[in-house]
Amino acid sequence: MQISNFPVTPVEQSRLSQVDFDNLGFGSIFSDHMFSMVYEDGAWKNPEIHPYRTLALEPGVSMLHYGQTVFDGYKAFRGLDGEARIFRPDMNVRRLHDSCRRLCIPIMEVEELLEIIIQATRQLIALDHGWLPSRWGQSLYVRPLVIGTEATLEVRAATSYRLMIMTSPVGSYFTNLQKGVSLRVEDRFTRAASVGGLGAVKTAANYAASLLPGFESRQQGFDQVLWLDGNEHRYVEEVGAMNIFFKIDGKVVTPPLGGSILPGVVRNSALTLLRDWGIPVEERRIATDEVVEAFRSGDLQEVFGAGTAAVICPVASIGFKGEVFQVATTPPGELTLRLYDQLTGIQYGKLADRHGWNVRVPIPQSDSVMVQ
Ligand code: COI
Repeated sequence: MQISNFPVTPVEQSRLSQVDFDNLGFGSIFSDHMFSMVYEDGAWKNPEIHPYRTLALEPGVSMLHYGQTVFDGYKAFRGLDGEARIFRPDMNVRRLHDSCRRLCIPIMEVEELLEIIIQATRQLIALDHGWLPSRWGQSLYVRPLVIGTEATLEVRAATSYRLMIMTSPVGSYFTNLQKGVSLRVEDRFTRAASVGGLGAVKTAANYAASLLPGFESRQQGFDQVLWLDGNEHRYVEEVGAMNIFFKIDGKVVTPPLGGSILPGVVRNSALTLLRDWGIPVEERRIATDEVVEAFRSGDLQEVFGAGTAAVICPVASIGFKGEVFQVATTPPGELTLRLYDQLTGIQYGKLADRHGWNVRVPIPQSDSVMVQ
């Protein structure tokens, strides 16, 4: 496919003036335009940008019944210099490609998908630049989504699909650096099967599986769920919708990617920075026994989640088998804060982007100025 500028049908009336940028929340406001393309008769075709709008789908569409859908998410930031920066979209597009493969979606070659999604994102940002928030902690969340669109109740891969990209101005997601979050260890339900399941890809089923445990955690007064492996319910896997890190006696430990854990882009970025700083890092299994032991001995110095929505999210306490363990340092721990500052510093163009993570998009300088 020839990728230059995609055709655009602009909105007749922008909704931008209705947006309360002081109360963005997360993902309930969508920008004026979105990108779509379809897969029909064995080919991906008709890429276009058009107003954000409702979808017309038959109730018999198999995706609604059997969940053949994948998504991803990355953020664009208004830089301090007035330029927009998209943080590592290539990583998310590669993961979206993996997710499609796992869900039997006939996706194009990864290089073509990269070109299409990054070009579409650049165009959406250029078109909807006024939707890029201008406060520290806020960003434009970019959500690509692929759904099967064939109406059939047969359990098989659909023969038609729609790829969409929408953008949403967002505030910081459950990040209260001073408070941190409380976790409840979930030792009954799992987020994803340990081996051979869907845990390593971004598909609706994993998030659906997380809803009841998340609800129960909140009912019991905790903010988030700490997920264990689906086999023995013994090893820590993720936290909420984030990857998890423990700082124990000066070393940072995070569970290894092995099929059940999502290969997070912020996880990868945090590991890169930690290694740059010469901080010992171990990607290995970590059992709840070891976490409890580290709490009891006072060696558990910091715990934090890493994800696109929250960036870095300090953990203040963990509830397990009727006990609540407080992390030794009051949030945010020194390393948690250093990672948060470094990552957000790169994202907003305040600090040097040594690894070339940002994709820059020029936007008109007349827009509102970024405030810290
Ligand atoms: C992330 O922060 O990486 C997420 O996946 C959160 C999203 C599902 C809201």
